[in-house]
Amino acid sequence: MTFLITAGPTREPIDPVRYISNRSSGKMGYAIAEAALDAGHDVILISGPVNLVPPRNAKFISVWTSDEMFGAVHQFADSSDICVLCAAVADYKPAQVSPVKIKKRNAEFSLELIPTRDILQSLGLQQDRKFLLVGFAAETDYLEANATKKLGEKNCDIIVANDAHIGMETDENELLILFCDGETKKISRAPKTFLACELVKIFSNSQQKRLTKKM
Ligand code: CTP
Repeated sequence: MTFLITAGPTREPIDPVRYISNRSSGKMGYAIAEAALDAGHDVILISGPVNLVPPRNAKFISVWTSDEMFGAVHQFADSSDICVLCAAVADYKPAQVSPVKIKKRNAEFSLELIPTRDILQSLGLQQDRKFLLVGFAAETDYLEANATKKLGEKNCDIIVANDAHIGMETDENELLILFCDGETKKISRAPKTFLACELVKIFSNSQQKRLTKKM
């Protein structure tokens, strides 16, 4: 099967030297890419800026902004079997990007932000999609309730939820996996490399099941 995986943060420029971003390390997405390759799958890894070496056998697409990530995902989604959107896409971007460095002034300064496009939701809107759609939810509170809401709103097949306090910038995580048929599965705290192998098995089994149901 072909896995499309997004990973890492996006950077939304303010001016030529500044941007808005977040603390995502990209480790979970890269671990899933490695695990999928090890299991014999093809991988398209679409990554925001991170300090990680891309897996050698993946098709690697490097992006910076949410708009670049949106474009790359839509270019390859329909030719993929499983889309795993693990990236921490910025929710807002500056309404205007200054072409020159904004100079410091001795006064208050505010930035107008506008929402970015939701990549996961845009794929969920494709009624006739053939690929399995997996989203992630990093939450600091009400983990299960917030993740259940995302599963419905973004019309995904699976949401992998985790506590942002545990997962951000670390090598470990603890997962709650929600399936669209109401099933749930918990994987307790473990290295991201171990979790990635488990997730790859779960995703490929789910896609197999989905395909047999449709036949
Ligand atoms: N996502 C996306 N495009 C966006 C924002 C999020 O594809 N513009 C995807 C992420 O890759 C992840 C899922 O949506 O798979 C949930 O992301 P998350 O940041 O947890 O949720 P948000 O929808 O941004 O909601 P909130 O920040 O309010 O929790």
